[in-house]
Amino acid sequence: MPVDRSIKIAPSILAADFADFGREVRSVEAEGADWIHVDVMDGHFVPNLTFGPPMVKALRPHVTTVMDVHLMISPVDPYIEAFAEAGADVLTAHLEAGPHIHRTLQAIRGAGMKAGLALNPGTPVEAAAPLLDLCDLVCVMTVNPGFGGQSLIESQLAQIARLRGLIGDRDVHIEADGGIDRETIGRVAAAGADVLVAGSAVFRGGSVEHPGPYGENIRALRAAATAAGKAA
Ligand code: DX5
Ligand code: ZN
Repeated sequence: MPVDRSIKIAPSILAADFADFGREVRSVEAEGADWIHVDVMDGHFVPNLTFGPPMVKALRPHVTTVMDVHLMISPVDPYIEAFAEAGADVLTAHLEAGPHIHRTLQAIRGAGMKAGLALNPGTPVEAAAPLLDLCDLVCVMTVNPGFGGQSLIESQLAQIARLRGLIGDRDVHIEADGGIDRETIGRVAAAGADVLVAGSAVFRGGSVEHPGPYGENIRALRAAATAAGKAA
């Protein structure tokens, strides 16, 4: 099977209506989302709190694409089984979340999920090199994790390009997360990311009652990413 490097737009529900996640997910999927990105924060690894496995489990029946769960928590290992049971397809842990990321990635795969490795902006992507054979995805944070609506850190583009070289022909997705909008997505895709997470840039202007803008946003993001990928 050839590696799927087509552009995948992954709306982050951090920018959705927290009282209506089920309908929000169904709306963005109907409007063209490829994956659903779910941000779990613990108020310790990052200075913000969201939700845990019961919420992810409640969301599961509403997701028909790929449920991509981004853990911004420390420790990770005690919760891996709970997220597997909650139905995560991809479970991503931060390299910075503990001393034993190698073991964590093994445990994620051992629990039957795809394993993702996330890197904070202050971490050189070369730190992922010894771990790439344990990864299905590497998430390069293009903001400091914790909040939606921040500006993309431009120096991460060079990191994505270097990671693309390190991955070579391995079947590993490059995900970019944070500050991705119509203006920045082209540069991120051209650098080599294929899974583009976008919160504010997808949910801006729409609602479950009026989901048309979700579709317009997703199509505009995809068009800009695809055009840049072809030009690169
Ligand atoms: C940030 C989260 C992101 C966030 C992106 O810590 O991991 O997934 O929702 O939000 P935007 O697209 O608004 O930067
Ligand atoms: Zn995220």
